[in-house]
Amino acid sequence: MTPAALKIIHDEHAALAVMLRTMGVLLAAYRKHGTPLDFTLFRAMLFYVDEFPQRLHHAKESDLLFPLLRERVPALGPVLDRLTSDHRSGSAAIRDLEHALLGFEMMGEARRPAFEQALETYVAFCLEHMRIEETQVLPVAEQVLRSDDWATLDAAFRENRDPLTGHAPADDYRELFTRIVDKVPAPFGLGPAL
Ligand SMILES: [Fe+2]
Ligand SMILES: [Fe+2]
Repeated sequence: MTPAALKIIHDEHAALAVMLRTMGVLLAAYRKHGTPLDFTLFRAMLFYVDEFPQRLHHAKESDLLFPLLRERVPALGPVLDRLTSDHRSGSAAIRDLEHALLGFEMMGEARRPAFEQALETYVAFCLEHMRIEETQVLPVAEQVLRSDDWATLDAAFRENRDPLTGHAPADDYRELFTRIVDKVPAPFGLGPAL
């Protein structure tokens, strides 16, 4: 049976990928329709990506999963170093992206290309990071970690559940998540189409 922690990691990766890709297609849809961007919505989505998957999810990996894996499989050291460094630089990258959005909001159209480029770069960075975890790390973890390792990880990962994945959401994020889904224009979310 797949350990709960592993399933939660997979689910959170899928949810994060959905949110990131939605931002990309939404941005393109706004451009295509010539509709002014809903900055409040984009700020909410970036805030969500920053707070929930980026900080909580990555913290669990860096602080719990990776140290256990380093102990059991020293050969994974280099790839875990790279992923840990991604976790660190991810915080700065999302801050830059939030600033690029603010620039677009405050300075107008001239700043749209910079935000679009920054978003594209950030999405690609996150998707590649998760691809490496999914292909080089999680399959090894499933093979080598022991049942007591999984008991520790399961308990830790159950504490941060993501509303996007269908698990009971952490209360602090429930309202934010609902607000995002309600406002994302159809067919991507529940809001009115552009
Ligand atoms: Fe990660
Ligand atoms: Fe991850």
